[in-house]
Amino acid sequence: MLVTTIFAHRGYSAKYPENTMVSFKAALKSGAQGIECDVQLSKDGIPVVIHDETLNRTTNGIGFVKDYTAKQLASLNAGRRFHHAAIPTLKEVLAWISPTNLLLNIELKNKKFPYNEMEEKVITMIHDFQMENRTIYSSFNHDSLIKIAKIDANAETAPLYKKPIPSPWRYAKALRASAIHPNYRSVNKELIDKVHDHHFKVRAYTVNNASIMKKLISWGIDGIITDDPYRGRFCLEQM
Ligand code: G3P
Ligand code: CA
Repeated sequence: MLVTTIFAHRGYSAKYPENTMVSFKAALKSGAQGIECDVQLSKDGIPVVIHDETLNRTTNGIGFVKDYTAKQLASLNAGRRFHHAAIPTLKEVLAWISPTNLLLNIELKNKKFPYNEMEEKVITMIHDFQMENRTIYSSFNHDSLIKIAKIDANAETAPLYKKPIPSPWRYAKALRASAIHPNYRSVNKELIDKVHDHHFKVRAYTVNNASIMKKLISWGIDGIITDDPYRGRFCLEQM
């Protein structure tokens, strides 16, 4: 039985420009069961899908995402050396993913800038597209996850963290989260077992190495967030 879910981190970002529709569509073809995407708000308050707070690394624009309207952002190229690929709005991603069977892990990128009413906007959109049963909200901003749980008591949330947290199941409970999303380096079998004993899930990021993937799968991890979902599926099916 396949107990581990493979999430394509920023889409199939090992091969395609991250957080673009081409990358998400390639993730679906690769056999991923879910995609992960990063969300911020444009100057006019529209949820847009881009990782960095600035445009400089992944697009032909410069400056902060928050200083551009959604229309201005749509005119930029996030395809880099590939072909033209726009910065998608969250609405575009939801319109595409909704008829598929994919799970969606939305990371709210609101640690540096506490975007006004970001949680309300994203949750409303998820409900509009009837994606509430296939969506996991994650963030490094754990206060934001508490806010999500207050707005939607049924929302699945998961704190992202890099350095190990003592008794992370207690921490998840305090946040009203259903899972933890640690960096894979802080994951071992004992941690997975303990988190499971307390009825929470563990999904590790960002795992690209096949032998590490196999080890995590053999330990019964619930999810692997990877740039290379094809490799993830391959490892999963070899087990
Ligand atoms: O979901 C895990 C991962 O996306 C967190 O880190 O910086 O790639 O968004 P980052
Ligand atoms: Ca992310």
